[in-house]
Amino acid sequence: MDGAQSPLTELSVEIPVETAERGLLRFLTCGSVDDGKSTLIGRLLYDSKLILDDQLAALERDSRRHGTAGEDIDLALLVDGLEAERQQGITIDVAYRFFTTDRRSFIVADTPGHEQYTRNMATGASGADLAVILVDARKGLLTQTRRHSYICSLLGVRHVVLAVNKIDLVDYDQAVFDRIVADYAAFAEGLGFCSITPIPMSARHGDNVTRASSNTPWHRGPTLVEHLETIDVVSDAAAKPFRFPVQWVNRPDLDFRGFSGTVASGVVRPGDRVTVAASGRESTVRRIVTYDGDLAEARAGDAVTLTLADEVDIARGDLLAPATARPEVADQFAAHVLWMGDEPLLPGRPYLMRIGARHVPVKVTALKHRIDVDTQEHLAGRSLALNEIGVCNLSTSAPIAFDAYADNRETGAFILIDRYTNATVGAGMIDFALRRAGNIHRQALLVSREDRQRLNGHGAAALWFTGLSGSGKSTIANLVERALHERGVRTFLLDGDNVRHGLNRDLGFSDAERVENVRRVGEVAKLFVEAGTIVLCSFISPFRAERRMVRELFEAGEFLEIFVDTPLEACIARDPKGLYAKALDGQIANFTGVSSPYEAPEAAEIVVATEDLSAQEAADRIVEALERAGRI
Ligand code: ADX
Repeated sequence: MDGAQSPLTELSVEIPVETAERGLLRFLTCGSVDDGKSTLIGRLLYDSKLILDDQLAALERDSRRHGTAGEDIDLALLVDGLEAERQQGITIDVAYRFFTTDRRSFIVADTPGHEQYTRNMATGASGADLAVILVDARKGLLTQTRRHSYICSLLGVRHVVLAVNKIDLVDYDQAVFDRIVADYAAFAEGLGFCSITPIPMSARHGDNVTRASSNTPWHRGPTLVEHLETIDVVSDAAAKPFRFPVQWVNRPDLDFRGFSGTVASGVVRPGDRVTVAASGRESTVRRIVTYDGDLAEARAGDAVTLTLADEVDIARGDLLAPATARPEVADQFAAHVLWMGDEPLLPGRPYLMRIGARHVPVKVTALKHRIDVDTQEHLAGRSLALNEIGVCNLSTSAPIAFDAYADNRETGAFILIDRYTNATVGAGMIDFALRRAGNIHRQALLVSREDRQRLNGHGAAALWFTGLSGSGKSTIANLVERALHERGVRTFLLDGDNVRHGLNRDLGFSDAERVENVRRVGEVAKLFVEAGTIVLCSFISPFRAERRMVRELFEAGEFLEIFVDTPLEACIARDPKGLYAKALDGQIANFTGVSSPYEAPEAAEIVVATEDLSAQEAADRIVEALERAGRI
C-alpha cells in the first residue's frame, strides 16, 4: 500500500508548525528515494484511527485562540505560516499531514528524499520535535541518511527514530539490524540528539509500525506508533526568556497602538518590564489584547497584540524582551549555514537576512570551513554549493537582536534570501556574536566632506565604469579624467589592471575573488569621495549584486554607473591585450564573456555604445552628463 492510495490522504491539510497545540507531536520523515517513506506514511494514516471530528475541534480551538475569523475556522491560520515561506520560494514539496490516534495528535511533514530537495527537508525539520530517519535494511547508512541527520541536528530536532525498514527483505535478521544501529550510533555521537530509538520495521507488511511483530521477537523496544504516542517532547520554549518579534504595529486609530506578533519564547504578563532589544528603550506591558478579549498572560506560540504604558518608538522587526534577560545585539557573528541556492554562496556578496520579523542586508565576511556530512570533517572552501553546510562569519548592515541558536531556536535561526530572485537560498543558525567588532568605534573627524568639497570648489562623486574586458572602459575613463583635470577638478582613476598589481594583488578571477575585488575597490572609492574628489573606477565588475552593493555605499546621486556597452564579438575582434585569443584557446580560465558570465546593468545612469561612438565622443557625453547633474 502506498501513501498516495491511502483512503485518508484527501483529509490532509497543510498546517504551519507554529499552530501546533501542546501535546501535539510534530515530526518529519526523512530518507533516500525508495526507502519506503510514502509507504510508511500511508501505513500510519491508514492504521491510525483518524478522527475527523477531533481534528476539526482542535482547529476550531486554535482558530478561536489565534485567529481573526470569529466563530468560523480560520483557514488562513493553517496556511499563512507556509505562505510566507512559499513567497520566498522555499516550500516546494513539503506536505504536512494531520492525523490522530486515541492518545495523541500528529503533524507529519513528508519531505522528498532526493538529494536536491534538501531545502524541503530543512523546511520540514524546522520546528519538528522528532525525525523518523528511514534506512533500507539492505543498504545500511547512506550519505543521505547522514546528511538528513546532520540537518535535523542543526535545526534542533532533538529526538530520532532510526527506522530500519524492509527488515522482511533481510529475513528479519537481527545481526543486520544491530550492525546498522551500531553504525548510526557511532555516526550520531557528536550530533547531540536527546534520544535515538531504533526500530526494525516493514512498512509494507506493517511490522512494528502499529503492531508489534512476531517476526522480530528479538526486538525489545516499542512499535513506531507506541513510541510516537508516548515520547515526551514537551517544548521548553515557554521556560526560556520572553521574546516577542514585532510582526506589525497595529494602529487603527489615535487612541490605540499595539504591537502584534507571536510570542517566540517565554511568558509575558501585564505589568512586566520590557525592552526594545536594539534601542534599549524600556516600558511596561499594559494589556495583552486578543480577538476574544484581554489575557492575563501569553506564552510561547500565542499570537497576541501587546500595548505598552509609554510611547516607545517600536517598528516592525523589533524584538521585545525582558529588561532583565536581554538578547544579544550585534552586527557580526559566527553561524552554521545550510546552502540551498542553485548559485553558490559567495563571501562578500550581499544577501538579505530574515531573522524573526526583521529583514536586513547581510554579507558573509569569511567562510571558515565547509562540513563533510559523512565524516563531520572540516573542509577548506571558498564558497558553498547547493546542499553544502559551512561555518561562516556574517556581517549585517545594522545590529540585530538574537540569541545563540543553542539557547533559543526561535531567535537564533535565520534564512538568507537572494536580493534579485527573492528566493530563499540558505538557512542559518547563529553560534555566537563576534566581539571584536564591538570594540571598534567610529572616530568623528573635524574636517567634514563638505569642508573638503568647498575647498575643492566642486562636488564629489564615484563614476563606475563597467563592461567587458576590451570594451573601452579604461580608454574612456582616461579621457574623462583628463577632461576633468583640465577644468581644475580633483580626480583619481582606479583601474582594474593597476589595482590588481597592488592592493588586490592577492586576488584571481574566480567568482568569489571578483566579489572581493569589487568590494575593496568600492570601499576605496568611498574614501576618495569622502576626500572630496571625483573618483573614476574602471572594472569589469561582472555581477549585478556587487555593483549594487557598491552603489549602496554612497548617498543618492553620488554614484554613477556607466555601462560601456560593447558586444562580445567586438571585444573579441579588438582583443587589445591578446587575452581573448588565449581564453578561447583554453589558456585562461574563467575569462569574462568566454568562460565566466557578465551581467549587463539594467539601470545604469549612463550607457555609451562604443560601436556608434569614438572613445572621445563617449568621454564628451559623460562629461556633459556630469555637468547636467551639477557634479562639476
Ligand atoms: S573584475 O571582474 O574583478 O572586475 P578587473 O576589472 O579587476 O576584473 O580585471 C580585469 C582585467 O584583468 C581584464 O581587463 C584583463 O586585462 C585581466 N584579466 C586577466 N584574467 C582575466 C579573466 N579571467 N577574466 C577577465 N579579465 C581578466
